Amino acid sequence: METRILKINSPGDTENINAVAAVLKRGGVAVIPTETVYGLAANAFDTAAVENIFIAKGRPQDNPLIVHIAEFEALGELVREIPDSARKLAKEFWPGPLTMILPKSEKVPLAVTAGLDTVAVRMPSHPIAAAIIRASGLPLAAPSANLSGKPSPTNAKYVIEDLNGRVDAIADGGDCSAGVESTVISLAGGIPRILRPGVITVEQLRSVLGEVEIDKAVLAQPAKDERVISPGMKYKHYAPKAKITIINSSLERYIEYLNENGSPDTAALCFDGEERLMPIKSVTYGGADDSLGQAHRLFDALRELDEIGAQTAFARCPSSEGVGLAVYNRLLRAAAFRVVYLFDE
Ligand code: TXA
Ligand code: MG
Repeated sequence: METRILKINSPGDTENINAVAAVLKRGGVAVIPTETVYGLAANAFDTAAVENIFIAKGRPQDNPLIVHIAEFEALGELVREIPDSARKLAKEFWPGPLTMILPKSEKVPLAVTAGLDTVAVRMPSHPIAAAIIRASGLPLAAPSANLSGKPSPTNAKYVIEDLNGRVDAIADGGDCSAGVESTVISLAGGIPRILRPGVITVEQLRSVLGEVEIDKAVLAQPAKDERVISPGMKYKHYAPKAKITIINSSLERYIEYLNENGSPDTAALCFDGEERLMPIKSVTYGGADDSLGQAHRLFDALRELDEIGAQTAFARCPSSEGVGLAVYNRLLRAAAFRVVYLFDE
């Protein structure tokens, strides 16, 4: 199919915003920018349109989608009831990079939730995303706009690489600020549980809700055949072609390791400013003490590893505190949970 690529610089660019909204209103599939990563959107109430998202992305049928809204009032028709916890979180973090999982209403098709009786909902803060949702008048189901298994795209160049010819339209709204996907929290029963970390941190959620659990799939590899609460956790994810290993060590030991294990086919995935110390080619992903900067850069850096032809990459280990938990969670999956621990003598 022919994909229309529409540059949108601001929510005031009504001509192109209305063009994208028109695609969505007639049941098409369109890519939109959000503050986290680009999303591959369609009318959440239209089963056929939602099925086309799965086809365009090559996504497994059992992995549910997030529904995007532009006002709090739109939540009511998506869920069975709105618990106090959801109201409090919305007041604090919406619009923004937080997804809440709640028992779904009858109106939400099972195609969106992959057969689950819960639905994931978020209100993006990106002004162009909000403008497109409002212009369409619809809740939009949207996974990240990458081909299934690839790193999520944080700019239109990588969306075009993955999806040109597979979707009706791509809205190019420039770079996404966060760079990793939203924090996902389940409020569907029991103690609130974080299923996917993001730039809204565990500490921020605890400060509003009190007790919050972190699902064990955030840092651990699910055992074969284990039932996971968030189906997305079980898939190979964010993986570039290069085989990545995380090296948990000091900078000095890391450089020694590269000297021993490097070759023309290998690359270092290091922090900003370290590249001049690397004995092999390198890609950087933010400052050593800057988790937000690492989140912003990580997925682009993974794609750049492919662009420089790396077969194997050795990654510096990020902090897993605060926003760092999201960075470490994504890098662990990109590395298929391979971590080497090296300690100083
Ligand atoms: O920032 C984001 O969240 C981006 C932008 C586009 O909004 N979207 C995104 O969607 O990352 P996706 O489909 O790539 O990731 C959605 C995650 C998956 O891990 C999925 O399994 C989980 O949310 N999820 C969705 N609905 C769920 C549900 N009802 N129960 C448990 N997990 C759910
Ligand atoms: Mg995704």
